[in-house]
Amino acid sequence: MTVLRKCRRKCGIKKILFLIILCTSVWYMGTVFNKSRGVREVWNVKGSFNATDGHCGTQCGKDQLSFYVKTGVETKQGPNMCYQNKVIISDKKKNYDRGMNVIVINDKTLEIEFTKIYDTYIDDYDFLRDMKSKVNEGNLVIIASYDEVSENLSEDGKRWLKLFGSEVIDQVLFRDSFLFIGQKGLRQGYAIEFTQSRGEKLFADSIEKMGCFTLPLGPISPVEEMLPKLIAQSNIRLGDNLENCGVTSSCEVKQFPVMVSCGMDSKVLPEICVGGRMVMDRKTNDAGRGINVVIVDHKTSLPKAATRFDTYEKDSSNLDFLLEGLVEDDIIIAAVFDDASRKLGFHTRELLNQLGSSMAQNIKFRDVWYFIGQKGIDGFTNMEMISYAGMDAEWPKPLKASFCVPKKIIGSQTLPDPPVHRNLVRREFCKKYDGYGEFCDTSHVDDMFLQPADLVDEERKDNPVYSSPIVIVPGLNHNALIRTMETTMMQQGINPDNVLIAWDEKFPEQAELATMFQFRNISLSGSLHYSDQMIKAIEETAKMFLDSEYMIVIEEELILSPDFLFFLAQCTDVLSKDDTLLGVSAFNFNGFEETSYNKYLMYKVEDFPGVGFMIKMNVYTQRMKGAMKMCCDERSWTGWSLPEYNETHAGYMLVPDVSRVYRHSYQGAYDEDYLTGLFNRPRETSLDQHVQLQGLHTLTDKYDSEIRRYIKSSVSINHIDVTKCLSNGNTISLIDEQQKNYVLFYKQSNREGFYLLRKIMKCFKFNIPRDRSPKNMYKGILRFTYMKHNVMLIGSKSKFIQSKPETIQIFKDV
Ligand SMILES: *[C@@H]1O[C@H](CO)[C@@H](O)[C@H](O)[C@H]1NC(C)=O
Ligand SMILES: *[C@@H]1O[C@H](CO)[C@@H](O)[C@H](O)[C@H]1NC(C)=O
Ligand SMILES: *[C@@H]1O[C@H](CO)[C@@H](O)[C@H](O)[C@H]1NC(C)=O
Ligand SMILES: *[C@@H]1O[C@H](CO)[C@@H](O)[C@H](O)[C@H]1NC(C)=O
Repeated sequence: MTVLRKCRRKCGIKKILFLIILCTSVWYMGTVFNKSRGVREVWNVKGSFNATDGHCGTQCGKDQLSFYVKTGVETKQGPNMCYQNKVIISDKKKNYDRGMNVIVINDKTLEIEFTKIYDTYIDDYDFLRDMKSKVNEGNLVIIASYDEVSENLSEDGKRWLKLFGSEVIDQVLFRDSFLFIGQKGLRQGYAIEFTQSRGEKLFADSIEKMGCFTLPLGPISPVEEMLPKLIAQSNIRLGDNLENCGVTSSCEVKQFPVMVSCGMDSKVLPEICVGGRMVMDRKTNDAGRGINVVIVDHKTSLPKAATRFDTYEKDSSNLDFLLEGLVEDDIIIAAVFDDASRKLGFHTRELLNQLGSSMAQNIKFRDVWYFIGQKGIDGFTNMEMISYAGMDAEWPKPLKASFCVPKKIIGSQTLPDPPVHRNLVRREFCKKYDGYGEFCDTSHVDDMFLQPADLVDEERKDNPVYSSPIVIVPGLNHNALIRTMETTMMQQGINPDNVLIAWDEKFPEQAELATMFQFRNISLSGSLHYSDQMIKAIEETAKMFLDSEYMIVIEEELILSPDFLFFLAQCTDVLSKDDTLLGVSAFNFNGFEETSYNKYLMYKVEDFPGVGFMIKMNVYTQRMKGAMKMCCDERSWTGWSLPEYNETHAGYMLVPDVSRVYRHSYQGAYDEDYLTGLFNRPRETSLDQHVQLQGLHTLTDKYDSEIRRYIKSSVSINHIDVTKCLSNGNTISLIDEQQKNYVLFYKQSNREGFYLLRKIMKCFKFNIPRDRSPKNMYKGILRFTYMKHNVMLIGSKSKFIQSKPETIQIFKDV
């Protein structure tokens, strides 16, 4: 009317005529359109439903089908659904539930095939499966919503409704009402459908409709044609040749070669090769993000499907469909690229599990994974690997492998060894704390923690070392602490309950590390200096392990030799026999590459303690306890001085020629020259598991006669060589291969005079600063190995000068 009135004012009669013709043609086209969509009439109704007479009050013409549908009312009233005037689902019958209440009708017989409720609030897996495979092409479905239908109706679920003719399903949001009548394969837009939006309300109003229609509701085509090409098994294009798919030897009969590669990060695309031809790669069959899948016919060994599911972007129900459609003995090859986890559903993972995967459950963001399984496999395939992304989703280590795949894959009943999984505790820790480079990097963050190793030699079990406390005193380098803990855990016979991490209360992460490693932690009040922390650690440990015979102390930045504990254990016999022996040091201050080589050899020395050491508990209780600040307030390299230490009341430590601990190189500024000289030069450290020490019995009060015996069996270092070395600054070379033992007697002005000794030591590549005493002295002698020879330097004020053979001269400085 408005248009006409406007026209009368503004346009002439011709224009009105034109308008009429236009309208007529639109009406005509409308009829044609209506024909292709079948006859349908739909009414709005209110309260027409009257189940008491068993009818729904719909009057339709001959050959027409009738319906009455009222969607649920909030959660108060269930949906009512009639087909052909019969009540199928109703509030009264109580055969409804949350989600989509569905009636499926055979389009040929017009009989009801089944009714079912799909709770798409929770998930739409059943809905998808039924719509794909249980509902036949052309079948009619009538749907009424109740309570909530949209929450977990996936993209794929909506796509399937569109395959039934829906146009409005995308508009259905939380607690909206939805009424739908469609057919499988119906062209989109031809369904009878209504939505009611919730707006501001808690629930949308109910939709109530009644009507008549004829079948088909519109153009119907096979759903297969509308699905992505993967499901219809199109001809597979084969790519380049790859000889034997990279398998080095040719495969046996009843096997065929396969190569899988997950590519690299998001740049190098994944590849799958079967029987010497690329089936998926950069150029072939759309390799890319998500799960790349090739299905191989087990009889012909030829690929029969190759496809990709971008399960980063879309849910995995298409993959489900493919997997569920496999026939017995089909072989599946899968490779993940970039990310496949985001929308990879639980059900899909279960299907993969049934095909022989033990790892599909573990795939998370950016993890890559390959898998070769088979329909009907019994157990798990051994052709599967997963590589985890890093803490911050760093790209995982790339995976690539070639196999000869048997046509019948024999599954294993147990999980593949070693089981691959995520170390969640460690990841948690790594998320919390920065700076744990290797411990937290992609290739290590999922490593399992070491488990304590039992003693192989049962007889050693009762050795007190294996029940003594081991106190680790961490410094600031936490990566070094981890290596200390790892090498501690590797000790055969270790009991983690005896290992104490003495952490400064400022660094709780050290306690957390201790717990992760199954060690105990003792919290110490904050210390300004490392030596204070050391004192507290020793005091606390002694309190906790009063009855222990020994205490083992591991300083910061140490790595333990594989035979660390075994080495200490061998010493307990001699320690217990001699009260003057205080303990064992595992570190030889003089143990540089050139000056240390005999891993069976031990010395007795006056230095106390070491860097990593074991002392008798009674040494602590009798001589140190309560006096730590006086005796032991220095760093161990400076040395501690036990109270009342004199010739008759002395104490000695045992020291190996080859160290049993290695200290990380020193990087501080404090006393830099001395400490870098000590710790940053190449050192000898034992790497063997079972070194049987020799001559331990001579380390008691027999040691002096052992030294005399040594002197008798040795020759003097050539004084001319020494003189030369002192004048030109070179080092001495000992060349006599036969002779192993050397001595050099040198002139001393007094017993503490090391002036000449320092100079001579330079000839053996030692560099002792003027304000430091040489290490490893014993009653005025110094023993070490040099270029695989035993060397003993003896001062003229030493008591051993008495053993000097007449023929040997005392060396004097020129
Ligand atoms: C429903 O049907 C019964 C029986 O035919 C009738 O008695 C009753 O009045 C009807 N109710 C409504 C609301 O139409
Ligand atoms: C919807 O699905 C997600 C993913 O499976 C699930 O975590 C969530 O609990 C589901 N929602 C409901 C309401 O069940
Ligand atoms: C330290 O050890 C105690 C038990 O002695 C334990 O309860 C505590 O959790 C440990 N601390 C940490 C941070 O693990
Ligand atoms: C050494 O110290 C002990 C213990 O204090 C003492 O009894 C002894 O007399 C001292 N000996 C010498 C030579 O000073």
